[in-house]
Parts: sequence; C-alpha cells; structure tokens
Amino acid sequence: MQAGLESLGIAVPPTYVELAELAKARGVAPGKYVDGLGVTRMAVPLVEEDTVTLAARAARMAMEAAGCTPEDVGMLVVGTETAVDHSKPVSSYVQGLLGLSTRCRVFETKHACYGGTAALLLAMDWVRSGSAKGKKALIICSDIARYGVGTPGEPTQGAGAVALLVSDKPKLLAFEAGKTGAYAKDVMDFWRPLYSKDAVVDGHYSVQCYLDALEGAYKAYQEAAGDTGGEGSYSDRFAALVYHVPYGKMSRKAHRHLRTLDGDKEPDTSFDRLVGPSLMLPSQVGNIYTGSMYLALASLLSCSREDLTGKRVGLFSYGSGSCAEFFSAVVQPEAQARVKALGLENLLEKRRALSIPEYEAIMAAREKLDDKPAEETPGEGFRYQGTRDHKRIYAR
Ligand code: ACO
Repeated sequence: MQAGLESLGIAVPPTYVELAELAKARGVAPGKYVDGLGVTRMAVPLVEEDTVTLAARAARMAMEAAGCTPEDVGMLVVGTETAVDHSKPVSSYVQGLLGLSTRCRVFETKHACYGGTAALLLAMDWVRSGSAKGKKALIICSDIARYGVGTPGEPTQGAGAVALLVSDKPKLLAFEAGKTGAYAKDVMDFWRPLYSKDAVVDGHYSVQCYLDALEGAYKAYQEAAGDTGGEGSYSDRFAALVYHVPYGKMSRKAHRHLRTLDGDKEPDTSFDRLVGPSLMLPSQVGNIYTGSMYLALASLLSCSREDLTGKRVGLFSYGSGSCAEFFSAVVQPEAQARVKALGLENLLEKRRALSIPEYEAIMAAREKLDDKPAEETPGEGFRYQGTRDHKRIYAR
C-alpha cells in the first residue's frame, strides 16, 4: 500500500524581527546574519502563543486543504522539543482544540529536531501495514526556537508549526518504502536542560555533528536503496534536495559536503538548482526546529519554477543529540498547484515587523509567564487553568 502526504499546513506567528536590525542592535555587521547565516527574518511568537496553538493552527490548514473531518483522523502525533508540560503532551491539547475522536491515538514524540520525522516514519508504516484501516495520521511539528538574547544562537531563532496529513492517498508526495537511511550517535551538541527554557548549544560542534550525521545517513540510504553505481553524482538521482535548515547557510554546508561525498569536484555549482527553492520560506521564518525541514519542503513545492511531477526529492532530517534520517519521496501530479493554493508566501507577507525593544520585551514577558505556577481549580476531576488561553487564540 502507498503512503504519503495528502496535504500540509503551516502556522507562523504574526510577528517577526528583521535580522539586519538585530545585527545593528548587537553591534554586528548585518552581512554576518543575512549572508553569513543566510537568514533575512526570524519569526517571534507573541507572549500568548505557544506550541499548542501553533500546532492546532497548522493542523486546521492541512485538514481544510484535504477536506478532512475530525472523524477521519486515527492518529495524532506532535513532534516537539518545546513541551508545555513534563507529562501531558502538546497533542492532547491539540486533540481538544480540533475536536478529534476519543478513538484517535494521541501522543507526543521528542528527539530535538528529529521528533517530527520519527512520528512521520511511524505513521507511514501504520498506513502501509493496513492498521490505519482507511484513517489518516496527523503529524505536527511545532516549536519555538530559543537561544536567548545576546547569545551567538540568537539570530538563529524562529517559531512555527508544520502539519502533515499522512494517508494512503498521497496527493503531494509518495514516500519510497524501505528507502531510508538512519544515523544516531550520543553527542552533546545541543540540548534544552530542565533548568532552562533556552537551548544550550556548542554551535560550531553542532555543525560538525550535523555533517557527520548527514554522511552516515546518506551512506545508509544508498545501501538501503541498492542503486549505487552508474555515471555522475549519486545525488543527481534527485530533482531536489531538502535539508534540515537551522539557518540557510547550514543547507549550503550540507550540500557541499554531500556533493563532495559524491566525488563532485565543484560541489557548490548545483546548489541553486537542487536546494535554492527550498530556502525561500525558511529565510523568512528562521529555525522552527522539528518543522524546519518540512517548511523547506513546503518552500520547494510552493516556490520551485520547475515542474517536479513524478520526480524524486531527497530529504535529510537532523535532530541534535543525535538522530538523523535520509529518505526520499516522489512528487505527485498537481502537488505544486495544491501547495501554491495555500498562499504561504502571502501568509508571511501579512506579518508585522517588531522593533528590537518590542522583541526584547516579548522575550522577557514570555520568560515570566512560563514561570508562573498554574492555577488549579478542583472540579470535575481536577481542572487545569493553563497560563495561556488556547481556545481564544485558536478561535481567531
Ligand atoms: N558578511 C558575510 N558573512 C560573514 C560576515 C560578514 N560581515 N561576518 C561573518 N560572516 C560569516 C562567517 O564567515 C561564517 O560563515 P561560514 O560558516 O561559511 O564560515 C558565518 O558568517 C557565521 O559566522 P560565525 O563566526 O561562525 O558565527 P558565530 O560563531 O557567531 O555562530 C553559529 C554561528 C554557530 C551557527 C551560531 O549562530 C549558533 O550556535 N547557532 C545555533 C546552533 C545551530 O543552529 N547549529 C546547527 C546544527 S544543530 C541544529 O539544528 C539546532
């Protein structure tokens, strides 16, 4: 049985910071952030928004695009590294907001930026095995990337969610069964310790860990696909390559490494053709952790001028700590028109720029709100009054 993406949806905060402005405020040459890191704008969520409302808004877009009702969904998994609770998953709040059935399997996955990919691979196996019995899986990647004001990671923040509706009727992408290569290694490159909401990161080491994982996963993919040999670069079997994008420059480094592994003497010459269109939306949003590679995929389908129908796309997902996957999918007829119809570029255009003092005030207020103990009101069971009014924000 086939399995793949029937539709997708995206949610981003209504506000962002221009990285050139942030650079000026930090006494850094704007070229370092814009060209050196390859990011133009980074999304900043308003204090009242969290991973729950971002996830639910993205899911609403994916479900509406496919005409999917709550009863059609048999599995909901949220991949996130921005949990709202040590125990209760983001997905349960999302289930409530979307009105999904009590028969739906609902849980959360965590492995840094890889959590959504783990859920997606599981959902594809669930569909292929026949266990889904015609139901669809809703996989949502939702995160708020935070390194803290004034740190080297600050210009690589962002926020957003990508929802992927997985079914046996792939209208966007059909994933290639068995063609996946995994790589995992216990490394301390990036983590979010219990005492902190901001990430702790050894930035330059994390770049090396990413590249090592790419090499391992790419080689594992080639073995799994069993089609090595032949003329030219192996990666020319793909019409496009979509990498995990913590910032645009990382994709360039990844592509250069992959083409060098292919034996390409001029590893950067294919970058604009194979990678360029996937970076247009990420350069306007920044890092959204679990959703980053999927935002890049949406960007490819929305912004590429090439007709990709029937062509193969290579996907590389990396989660610090670490686990990575290289896998592939074939673009379905009308996929690009369907994603274009979502109006993702317009969605980003409608956002409002924050001044640097406004952004800093939001970061400080968010820290305070997150630390506020929840008010608990005994009632039917024990009713939890969260720090954010999810229903009101979702209803907008
Ligand atoms: N004009 C143009 N380019 C410039 C300028 C300038 N004026 N100044 C510097 N640059 C370039 C540098 O040459 C460098 O490019 P290169 O990487 O091709 O050599 C780039 O800008 C960045 O400069 P660095 O000095 O390396 O920047 P810094 O040390 O401040 O940190 C880093 C960069 C490590 C990416 C940091 O932002 C970080 O820690 N980010 C979070 C970690 C991360 O995203 N890791 C990725 C993998 S793990 C994950 O996905 C979370």
